[in-house]
Amino acid sequence: MTEWTILGAGALGSVVAGLLRRQGEAVSLLLSERHRGHLHPCLDLVTLVGRHQLVDTRPLFAEQAGQISCLLVMTKAYQVVAALKGLHRLPTNTPIILLHNGMGVAEQVQALYPHNPLIVGVCSHGAMKEGDWLVRHTGKGETWLGPVNPAAKAYADLARPLAAALGHAKWSEDILGLQHRKLAVNAVINPLTACHDIRNGQLLEPRFAAVLEQLSEEVHQVMVQLGETESLDDFRRRLRKVIELTATNYSSMHQDLAQGRPTEIDHITGYLLAKAATLPVPVCRQLYQEVRRRSPA
Ligand code: PAF
Repeated sequence: MTEWTILGAGALGSVVAGLLRRQGEAVSLLLSERHRGHLHPCLDLVTLVGRHQLVDTRPLFAEQAGQISCLLVMTKAYQVVAALKGLHRLPTNTPIILLHNGMGVAEQVQALYPHNPLIVGVCSHGAMKEGDWLVRHTGKGETWLGPVNPAAKAYADLARPLAAALGHAKWSEDILGLQHRKLAVNAVINPLTACHDIRNGQLLEPRFAAVLEQLSEEVHQVMVQLGETESLDDFRRRLRKVIELTATNYSSMHQDLAQGRPTEIDHITGYLLAKAATLPVPVCRQLYQEVRRRSPA
């Protein structure tokens, strides 16, 4: 049986670890130096129905990277490269799966580990960290995986155990399109909720109608520039659905800013601004600057 090694036991990483363990999968957590010498406690996962589930995982440190057979990277986008740099003993046939918000990281990972099968994905489960080893699963979502390089194409079967554990997981050869669709939603919801200090659902209040209309149009224009064919109306309908489904959640960027952590703004809005080139995207730009201004140095 493949052991899933999770790098990044934040909110979503811990939920995925818990759901995989519940399905009988072997799971290890790749821990950072600050955990060395500490007792490795069970994760406490609060399930969707409010039940507590203790999740036991095997602790691993960087020098044990030679033991990793499948690496699921669930850190924040800005942590991925630094976290992977230390894994000198990672076998070259170990698939690396990147499941973070935002884009622009896979290219760097590919340069770092050119021989490893590289898979990227999008995951829309809701999760909230409530304490050091305490995490709450706040919403069921979809997970999509797809290959970045030819070596990854042989790993489509990884979606099967993930689907059994998470309720939904599929393989797509057009993962770039799915990443763009997720990025577009994040580029609207995340900076707006973070700057206005609101839950996702509050974006549907009339006071946000005008900014939502302009921002969704700007983001859609960039998506068209990137070759995506979804119409503006369809994008707005999809956006509205995500807002409704996650109405009571605080977005990940809201949680990051509220807790004084760095945000993924460079990999979400920053990435879009870079791709926008000469397109006018004033609201995107303003939100980018505002989140940067409020982020810790
Ligand atoms: O980043 C997030 O918080 C989520 O991707 C989403 C979909 C915006 C819901 O909160």
